[in-house]
Amino acid sequence: MRTSLPFTVDRAIGVPLHLQLAEQVRAAIRDGRIQAGHRLPSTRDLSREVEVSRAVAQAAYDQLHAEGWIEGRTGSGTYVADVAPLPPAVVHRARRHQPPAPDLLTLRPGIPFISKTTDQGWRRAWREVSAQNPPHGYADAAGLPELRTALAEHVGRVRGLACGPENLVITNGTVHGLRLLLSTTLAPGDRIAMEDPGYVNAVKAARSHGLDVVDVPVDADGLRVGTLGDDLAAVYVTPSHQYPLGGRLPVARRNELIRWARRTGATLIEDDYDSEFRYDVAPLPALAQLDLDRVVHLGTLSKMLSPALRLGWLVASTTVVDRIAAFREDASDWPAWPMQAALLAMLRDGYLDQLVRRSSRLYADRRNLTCRMLAPYGQVVGQDAGLHITLLLPDHVDDRALAARARTAGVAVAPLAEYRRGIPGRPGLVIGYATPTDEDLVKALEILIDLLS
Ligand SMILES: Cc1ncc(COP(=O)(O)O)c(C=O)c1O
Repeated sequence: MRTSLPFTVDRAIGVPLHLQLAEQVRAAIRDGRIQAGHRLPSTRDLSREVEVSRAVAQAAYDQLHAEGWIEGRTGSGTYVADVAPLPPAVVHRARRHQPPAPDLLTLRPGIPFISKTTDQGWRRAWREVSAQNPPHGYADAAGLPELRTALAEHVGRVRGLACGPENLVITNGTVHGLRLLLSTTLAPGDRIAMEDPGYVNAVKAARSHGLDVVDVPVDADGLRVGTLGDDLAAVYVTPSHQYPLGGRLPVARRNELIRWARRTGATLIEDDYDSEFRYDVAPLPALAQLDLDRVVHLGTLSKMLSPALRLGWLVASTTVVDRIAAFREDASDWPAWPMQAALLAMLRDGYLDQLVRRSSRLYADRRNLTCRMLAPYGQVVGQDAGLHITLLLPDHVDDRALAARARTAGVAVAPLAEYRRGIPGRPGLVIGYATPTDEDLVKALEILIDLLS
């Protein structure tokens, strides 16, 4: 009896013949080309048809039998078993992330300037890493001890935050640190206050952990501490440069926030994302420096070097650090050794400090240029620090529509509405001046000005 299906074998591909045959029968059943109850040829017929030995045909049937695809009825042959065919898997191949078109100038905030050429310090660090052997076994789940020591010295010196290696966890950046903290210290349903407007990815992290996000208003000085209720488990705050409006939380408000946290028992989460860059204002030390028992501090390399490195740090009490380290041990979730070793090398030879000094000079010039060019078209805020300014616009402006028109004209820029949730406020554009070259920055600003005027 013929199968009416064209089973064939290929002796050149090195796959055992009985496996080739079994797979073709399997595929025919899976696709519904032969159905439950269909009678298959005898091993004698099959071997003749396909030109293989009878033993090969028998081995193919034995395999299919063992897997449950076929069944033998004594005396009456071999039949396809009643296996409900699985509809074929639908593989979604659509691109999730559309990279900007190559000729789109970007003024979206958050990405530092990356020069086209690498510099000595960067190469020195990687040479140093490549000359070492990787460590034996799994590294420390909190991060390389030498790196934590070097970073403790760094945040002490640069952010006035006195701490030791036992207070540090090396992370894959701010959002990773935030997620680790939420997973180990807060429970789904807990209430967390977050600045509105604020950092979208932090809000996403809180929501995906099942937290109840409470919108807190901000003003020109940052988070309005007086509006915080007493039923909060945590507050996420960007005190050094409110994201995206740019206020710097004044000392009186910082003290008020710490007093409030001590009274209510809430955890303060300080996102210190771009504090390294500050222009014509005196540095304010990290909020965590006031009380490391109440504040968890999140630092990142994303603004100093590149967000692609996925490296940052979390500074907290030893209780929090130990909890996170234990959690990571189980989850096997910590930054790869080469990246940590490279950061250690960059810290030890002073490269990171040098880079921040150099970038600060570049960004200060760009900030001046951006403020000067845009000042006639709105109210510039947040210009004292960081890598972006916000241009507040008259109430009647639709900032999303404006950003869409800018995109059509060749400039990517973020509308302030993107950062707002429940609390209404003025429209505006959040403008990052760090990413493009000097030339492209001017070009992009001119295009924006055309639209604004
Ligand atoms: C407010 C804020 N925090 C943190 C970050 C950096 O996050 P990460 O360290 O995860 O790259 C950004 C980047 O845009 C940011 O805007």
